[in-house]
Amino acid sequence: MAHTLPPVITIDGPSGTGKGTLALGLARQLRWHFLDSGALYRITALGAQAAGIGYDEVARLCAFASGMEVAFSTVFEGSILLDGKEISDQVRLEESGAKASQVAALPELRAALLQRQRDFRQPPGLIADGRDMGTVVFPDAALKFYLTASAEERAQRRYKQLINKGVDVSLRSLLSDIQARDERDSTRAVAPLRPAEDAIIVATDDLTAEQVFELASRRIGEALGINAV
Ligand code: DC
Repeated sequence: MAHTLPPVITIDGPSGTGKGTLALGLARQLRWHFLDSGALYRITALGAQAAGIGYDEVARLCAFASGMEVAFSTVFEGSILLDGKEISDQVRLEESGAKASQVAALPELRAALLQRQRDFRQPPGLIADGRDMGTVVFPDAALKFYLTASAEERAQRRYKQLINKGVDVSLRSLLSDIQARDERDSTRAVAPLRPAEDAIIVATDDLTAEQVFELASRRIGEALGINAV
């Protein structure tokens, strides 16, 4: 008898579209596992830097990525543990995203992280958040979402989040960082940022996080017959 793999729902798109919020909300609601693949790239970039590994030392970088012990929790705003240590604050910094985007352009590193990402697929199911979840990592996902929003809207959202957290940032520099990261993520040779052909595209510019959640829950209910609301 063919072995049936647990179902996966993928949530892809550029940063600042509310992917993370949606993915975490769905994982909690469904009590499914959660993969924050961007965090894996962020942790690799930060951990490698701390270990004195340059981003051009591809073999060492891949060995580091294969060996690191990472765990995600859907409790407490999605905490992230590296070798048992809570590192989520550092991982979520803007500069960590920019570093992640650099190492994420290396095909060898993407290959080194591929199986590790697939290992998150455990019963009863997985919500996978990233850039290439629906195209490369889980092409057989039961349902694929691709969230979009204009760069201006995403910069605004990020600005509000950071200001609320007491972080002093400029809207203009956030916008140019977002544009630079979009450009690098969409033009790289391997697994560039793009929607899967069978993805449901959700333009979030005029939607609240709650509206995006409701819309996704409805589609999940229709497609999989499970209640996410
Ligand atoms: O989703 P995020 O902002 O945490 O991702 C940080 C960077 O990691 C992003 O700019 C590109 C890279 N990334 C990737 O290449 N593939 C993924 N599946 C997730 C993230």
